[in-house]
Amino acid sequence: MTTPPLLSDEELERSAVVANNTMNRERGLTGVNSYARELGFDPVTHLSAQSASPSWLDLCSGEGRALREAATRLPASAVLTGIDLVGPPSPPPAMPGVDLITTSVGDWAAPRAYDLITCVHGLHYVGDRLGLLTRAASWLTPEGLLFAHLDPVSIRWPDGTSAGRTVLAALRAAGFTYSSRQHLLTLRGPRSVHLPFRYLGADPDAGPNYTGQPAIASFYQRLL
Ligand SMILES: C[S@@+](CC[C@H](N)C(=O)[O-])C[C@H]1O[C@@H](n2cnc3c(N)ncnc32)[C@H](O)[C@@H]1O
Repeated sequence: MTTPPLLSDEELERSAVVANNTMNRERGLTGVNSYARELGFDPVTHLSAQSASPSWLDLCSGEGRALREAATRLPASAVLTGIDLVGPPSPPPAMPGVDLITTSVGDWAAPRAYDLITCVHGLHYVGDRLGLLTRAASWLTPEGLLFAHLDPVSIRWPDGTSAGRTVLAALRAAGFTYSSRQHLLTLRGPRSVHLPFRYLGADPDAGPNYTGQPAIASFYQRLL
């Protein structure tokens, strides 16, 4: 196998696959097209059990529908933060506690800890997805939970072969669990994560992943 031309994050964010306005950005909290369905639990049930003033950070939050629906079921003191490259099609009315920030997750750092961090089908489009997971691991409250869909097949070595097994082993050693049936990575509680890989760049022409949608492949070099 050979290495395709690799894009920087700035180039990637302008690519047709990432700047694709037909991707599903409209999942709500519960129901057929929802976070509860993709994650296997209702985020509000988890948040309500965590704290009287729960906090949820949604990375690659799409239109932010799930956060906005959660705000109607949580106390007004709840903190609900969504980060996405693309803002909602028309700015929705302000809701107390809901902050939808239009920026790249690669450029953003959490100013506080969160009880729940999600990335629902977002990592498929993020170049340095291991870097994001490493940073997000430190943004959890002591009992906080992180959930992120991850396709290990789309993590590659410089020669184009799959780095998935090695990367999953390193993530498990760092405290993550991974359900291959749901393609879901989970972490409980904050930690300082060091993964022995260096990010090289991304290929936007990797083709459809397990979701059936075009996604990108991320290339890493093993650090000895
Ligand atoms: C398949 S959509 C999922 C959206 C939402 N989580 C949902 O399930 O409805 C993927 C989202 O990732 C966002 N995205 C891709 N790259 C990003 C980046 N570098 N930073 C922030 N958001 C990004 C896209 O704009 C898109 O809204």
